Parts: sequence; C-alpha cells; structure tokens
Amino acid sequence: MHSSVYDCAILPLSKVHNRAGSITIVEGNKHVPFDLQRLYYLYDIPGGEDRGAHAHKELYQLVVAASGSFDVLLDDGENKRIVTLNRPDYGLMIVPGIWRKLYEFSSGAVCLVLASHKYDESDYIRDYDQFLKYKAPFVQSKR
Ligand code: TYD
Repeated sequence: MHSSVYDCAILPLSKVHNRAGSITIVEGNKHVPFDLQRLYYLYDIPGGEDRGAHAHKELYQLVVAASGSFDVLLDDGENKRIVTLNRPDYGLMIVPGIWRKLYEFSSGAVCLVLASHKYDESDYIRDYDQFLKYKAPFVQSKR
C-alpha cells in the first residue's frame, strides 16, 4: 500500500453549539471520505499505557478525542508524524498502510474511532518488522 503519513489529515468536524452544549455529526462519505461501518471507543486507559501499535491493510479510520487528550504516532515505514488530539470537533483520518501508536492518554480520555469496515483480524499487521516488509516496495530510502 503506497500511502504516506502525509495522506493522514486532521479533519475539522461540524459543531453545533447552543447554551445547552454542543453536538458534532459525522456521516460516512459526507464528512469523511469513506464509508462508516463500525464505531468503537477506548476508555479507562491507565496512565502510561499505549494502544494501537499495528497497521491496517484496507481500513480507513477517523480517530477523535471525544474527551481528554492523547498523542498519535503515525509511521509509513519512511516518515513519522506525531499528532496531538484534544478536541472533540476535530478528527484524525488514518489511511490504510500506516503504523500507528496511541499514547500519552490524559486521565479520563475517551478515544472514539469511526471505521470504514467491520472488524477483520486479517486486515491487521501487528508485527512491526512485517509492516516494514509490507511497505518496503514503496519506500524510497534504503534501510
Ligand atoms: P485492538 O484493535 O488490538 O486494540 P488497540 O489497537 O486499541 O490496542 O483490539 C483489542 C482487542 O479487541 C482485540 O482482541 C480485538 C478486539 N476487537 C474486536 O473484537 N472488534 C473490534 O472492532 C476491535 C477494534 C477490537
């Protein structure tokens, strides 16, 4: 998969605000450029713990800090980017073929993930060396 960390983007989401609070709406193929088939969320994350540390072959995701904050390390086998998420009205779109690690979760953080496909373990690459091999044909610099 010929994707780079620069294909991942922070997307501003809608925010409808009134005195009773705010609402953000995300519709597939409208507010994000992919279908939405699954939602899951991470919470009760103990201090110092990491999540993720894998890549997906086909899956697109929108990652949102619904509450609190955390950092996302993106890695395409050649370049790395670190993105801090701390607002519920912004989402990080992660394209397929990107290794990601989520870390530095604040106390009480809730990480909402909107995903383009249903859960499929065969779509995961969970071994970093295997990920580098998967990306090797597309990486320009020599390792
Ligand atoms: P995993 O994606 O590895 O979590 P993270 O990247 O946040 O560390 O998933 C953790 C476990 O949950 C793993 O056993 C697979 C299971 N799981 C599902 O059954 N369905 C899902 O939609 C997701 C995201 C995970």
